[in-house]
Amino acid sequence: MFFLEEDSVSVLSRTLITLTVLTCASSAWANPFPAGNREHGRSLHASKCVSCHNSMMPGNRGEELYDEFNRKVKTISQLRGMVDFCANRTKTGWFDEEVISVSRYLNDQHYQFK
Ligand code: HEC
Repeated sequence: MFFLEEDSVSVLSRTLITLTVLTCASSAWANPFPAGNREHGRSLHASKCVSCHNSMMPGNRGEELYDEFNRKVKTISQLRGMVDFCANRTKTGWFDEEVISVSRYLNDQHYQFK
């Protein structure tokens, strides 16, 4: 009985460790911008980026710029590059951290690159 209990405790803890490792590994794999904060990116994008994109698109639907059918950006590094480019041109003064957060937000919301 004593052995059985010790055994199930160690099986349980090994299972938990395995699950933790798998969860961390798979979320790092699934998100190319793990350091970005999506909600911060969302609000930065809303305050600095949306109005100009809206003015470019019919019906004021700037987000359609990111649609599969309209987008020019095809890779993770192009996405990051374009966020950097537009942020510089708009003189946002963003640091890498902000660029990464906005890239993450756009990727989660629109591009979904792996
Ligand atoms: C003054 C206008 C303007 C502002 C402000 C602006 N952009 Fe842009 N953005 C553009 C234009 C114009 C394009 C299209 C460029 C092209 O198609 O070659 C574009 C394209 C993009 C694309 C690529 C879309 C695609 O084709 O996949 C991304 C990403 C992007 N902008 C991000 C941002 C971000 C992030 C900000 C906020 C910092 C921002 N933009 C602010 C004008 C702007």
